[in-house]
Amino acid sequence: MASEDSTELEAALVRGLHGTVLEVGAGDGANFGFLAEDVDWIGLEPNPRDTEALRANAARWGRRREVLVATCEDIPLPDECVDAVLSTLVLCSVEDQQKALEEIIRVLRPGGAFVFVEHVAAAPRTVLRGVQRLATPLTRRLDRGCHLDRETVDSIRRSGLRIDELHEYRMPSGLGFTIPFAAGRAVKA
Ligand SMILES: C[S@@+](CC[C@H](N)C(=O)[O-])C[C@H]1O[C@@H](n2cnc3c(N)ncnc32)[C@H](O)[C@@H]1O
Repeated sequence: MASEDSTELEAALVRGLHGTVLEVGAGDGANFGFLAEDVDWIGLEPNPRDTEALRANAARWGRRREVLVATCEDIPLPDECVDAVLSTLVLCSVEDQQKALEEIIRVLRPGGAFVFVEHVAAAPRTVLRGVQRLATPLTRRLDRGCHLDRETVDSIRRSGLRIDELHEYRMPSGLGFTIPFAAGRAVKA
């Protein structure tokens, strides 16, 4: 997929969110431009270097909620209080993916949506999968905890969320080969 098409796909998924939306691992706020105006946005970001830029960008985009300085594995919000959770390039980085998904499900109201855009592991027993496995100790250290070899779609399915939209595609890595991505929407029963 061309990068313009993947941006359009991400934009369409994010534009489809309404109500109270918790964005986990929001970084410096790359998704603000895609969010519908009526969204009551809550940002969560554990990295103090990003939270400052996130607060400034949130104010610029007219988002008034306090940014939560916390991890996805321990979300400081009550049960079933948000209509949607948004995660772009975050489930590769969390320390404990299963716990993070449990927390996402806990804070989602029944029928609420989890929208994700993530790079994922290549098919088992491929050269790329081997490269991802070997490179992951390095990317964990150098790239904010990023794991290249996570089977994130399987983790989402195992979590109990029901995936009702899924796009699987490849994007250029910048190193002369492409890496697999998955983007979509899953629903809490
Ligand atoms: C690759 S960046 C993506 C940032 C943003 N979502 C985007 O799409 O530009 C990964 C983000 O996940 C955050 N992160 C890492 N571990 C996390 C955790 N356990 N819980 C929540 N966010 C985490 C990092 O601080 C970083 O902001």
